[in-house]
Amino acid sequence: MSLIAETPSPLPETRTAAPKRLHVITWGCQMNVYDSARMTDVLRPLGYAPVDSPEGADMVILNTCHIRERASEKVFSELGRLRVIKEARAAEGQSTVLAVAGCVAQAEGKEIVARAPFVDLVLGPQTYHRLPEMVARAARAAGAVIDTDFPAEQKFDFLPEAAGPQLPGGVTAFLTVQEGCDKFCSFCVVPYTRGAEASRPVAAVLAEARRMAASGVREISLLGQNVNAYHGDGPDGSTWDLARLLYALAEIPGLDRLRYTTSHPRDMGEALIRAHADLPQLMPFLHLPVQSGSDRILQAMNRGHTADDYRRLVDRLREHRPDLALSSDFIVGHPGETDADFAETMRLVRDIGYAQSYSFSWSPRPGTPAAGAPNRVADAVSHARLLELQALIREQQDRFNADSVGRTMDILFTGRGRKPGQLSGRSPYLQAVHVQGPDSLIGTTRRVVIERMLTNSLSGSFIPVAESACA
Ligand code: SAM
Ligand code: SF4
Ligand code: F3S
Repeated sequence: MSLIAETPSPLPETRTAAPKRLHVITWGCQMNVYDSARMTDVLRPLGYAPVDSPEGADMVILNTCHIRERASEKVFSELGRLRVIKEARAAEGQSTVLAVAGCVAQAEGKEIVARAPFVDLVLGPQTYHRLPEMVARAARAAGAVIDTDFPAEQKFDFLPEAAGPQLPGGVTAFLTVQEGCDKFCSFCVVPYTRGAEASRPVAAVLAEARRMAASGVREISLLGQNVNAYHGDGPDGSTWDLARLLYALAEIPGLDRLRYTTSHPRDMGEALIRAHADLPQLMPFLHLPVQSGSDRILQAMNRGHTADDYRRLVDRLREHRPDLALSSDFIVGHPGETDADFAETMRLVRDIGYAQSYSFSWSPRPGTPAAGAPNRVADAVSHARLLELQALIREQQDRFNADSVGRTMDILFTGRGRKPGQLSGRSPYLQAVHVQGPDSLIGTTRRVVIERMLTNSLSGSFIPVAESACA
């Protein structure tokens, strides 16, 4: 951070290069992580460089998530903390631009301005390409500047080229290819906060991926709320699906690993399933949320498939890629869920056998159909179901990790570990793996024999080069 000047800076009105400190706080899904990185890119020409703490920052962006309850309380409590920092700086004659971005900003922009008048900017996920203009307007405006439109233009067309991986020297990166959702699951705010499904053109995605690879990224996770609904305009005038995009990405030199998340079971087409067999770059780990194992609840959730459809889909995927491991999301306590419905969810989890999963108690989100549905499940019942499900998920996850011990895996080294001389990497299954080794291996993939399972990671050692399959 030594390049950052200590002198206070006025709000930017011109594209000067005066260094200013930008702190971004990111909550929510990986799309918010990607958006935070791109907001940082957008502000760079205005002289903003990222810093690790809000104290002393000239601009703080709080990038928020609205997916579950208490989202806004959490925002207001964080804003209370940031207000103290802003006021302390003001007392020293320094100004701080305070921005609230993301899905809470989209859903509750006006309330934020009313309850937290010290906030300067409120911007939704579709408008962050307009940040420079908004920052300039905020410098002139008396009150807050709000921009939560769903503009006709695609924000991606207006963004500068991504500066590279999300972390300096990063070996792994997210790349948003698709946004929004038209599926309208009964419980979910995403179609309202992120808008209708839209895909980025193929050429833009490939160009961004090439730049990432050239800057040292070895693993890209393609992102979208329904990433496998991707339908981008191809350079040949046709519409490309996700499978076709993946085949093209696999041609980019240096890109050793590809992933995509989050997929919807309904959009898992044959070509995409085949890609799992064809593309060694496509990692054998798939996040495929099912939410419930009960057909009644799946219907109430408007998921558009049955539990057996999901089982058959997993079978087909495993036929094509026998080493495929899966993760999922589950909601317990959706309105109308009985003990029998919950038992069906437990049965599905046992049938599939997940490497990892996320589970939540249903949370009523204002404006969603489920929020007004009858037959709510008592909190205590929901809670008990969640604990039971989480115990099973934990058991499966521990078993998966324990089964990794003794296996040889390709590990992509992403950085240093905590202990001296230790490297940290990730397995094809996104497990954290630690190995003693030199820094020169960061950014490379090596064969490692897994020797121990620790609480949240694995450790292992290199196998001799002669036995190693990968360079
Ligand atoms: N698009 C993805 C899908 O269809 O599965 C994920 C969307 S959401 C960002 C991530 C997860 O949050 C969902 O899969 C769901 O399990 C959970 N979630 C969404 N709304 C929820 C709610 N109202 N209450 C509890 N969990 C919720
Ligand atoms: Fe939400 Fe359903 Fe869309 Fe996923 S598919 S983002 S859960 S509405
Ligand atoms: Fe949250 Fe918005 Fe992502 S509600 S989960 S940040 S799409």
